[in-house]
Amino acid sequence: MDLDLPLIVTEIAAEMAAETERGAVADYIPELARVDPGQFGLALSLPDGRVIAAGDTEVPFSIQSISKVFTLALALGRHGDSVWSRVGREPSGDPFNSIVQLEHERGKPRNPFINAGAIAVTDALLSHYAPREALGEILRFLRYLSGDEDIAIDPAVAASEQETGFRNVALANFMRSYGIVTGEPAKVLGVYFHHCAIAMTVRQLARAARFLAFDGRLGPEGPRAVSPRMARQINALMLTCGHYDGSGEFAFRVGLPGKSGVGGGIMAVAPGQAAIACWSPGLNAVGNSLLASTALERLAERTGWSVFTAR
Ligand code: DON
Repeated sequence: MDLDLPLIVTEIAAEMAAETERGAVADYIPELARVDPGQFGLALSLPDGRVIAAGDTEVPFSIQSISKVFTLALALGRHGDSVWSRVGREPSGDPFNSIVQLEHERGKPRNPFINAGAIAVTDALLSHYAPREALGEILRFLRYLSGDEDIAIDPAVAASEQETGFRNVALANFMRSYGIVTGEPAKVLGVYFHHCAIAMTVRQLARAARFLAFDGRLGPEGPRAVSPRMARQINALMLTCGHYDGSGEFAFRVGLPGKSGVGGGIMAVAPGQAAIACWSPGLNAVGNSLLASTALERLAERTGWSVFTAR
């Protein structure tokens, strides 16, 4: 049976608009606390090139930790498997900003998606690029992946996090003491805060995720962005680590690799079927979007999309 995806997407957006329990917007980055929690957007980028979207599809939001997927892809492209000498591939079972495992594990973060891991990945990029170049490279990569030049950093969000990111400062300095971070912590953090402050719409983000849904290509027959092996490995990490200590719950409920950000976005992939972006600013207790998680669960139920189902 053919799926009526426009209907499914429109219905889910209408259901989410009616929800009254919307979670709490992140307030530890003051600029994010100003975002209206009443918003919701969902977009699917399909194999035939169509984008199906509903809700607040044209509002740019702070992608935050979702940027960590793209910096990881760039670092793996530049440095290959040597990235894994400074960051692991195991779920942490701890909050995204936790410092507790680092001392036990000699400064090596559990995975590239917790803050410590992403800071180490950003440091790896800086062994190749000056800070400004690295940010230019990250933006260029996102614009290429989404086929949209209109993607930029929100300077107010970057400044807000720069002023209040004391825990990330601690993580970077701690890793510097073990030689996992090799550059100057302040420079590494400057780039990290700025890539987290990139703003995108769900439509742009769904298109940027295509390379993960189509074995490294921007569509089944599209140009190649990364190797099939890299796409597979990043998907595995998103499934196991993409939602921090909510990763098991997300895999159980949604069954698709996904990456969340404290701006309320979730990027997910149904391999071969669709690249997906969903956004609603209110978060659950572990820092993942409450309504975007529910919406993706309903999308997976109604489409049958799952990496655990025979097709
Ligand atoms: O470093 C931070 O705390 C933020 N820039 C990113 C955290 C984040 O998005 C966690 N995701 N749920």
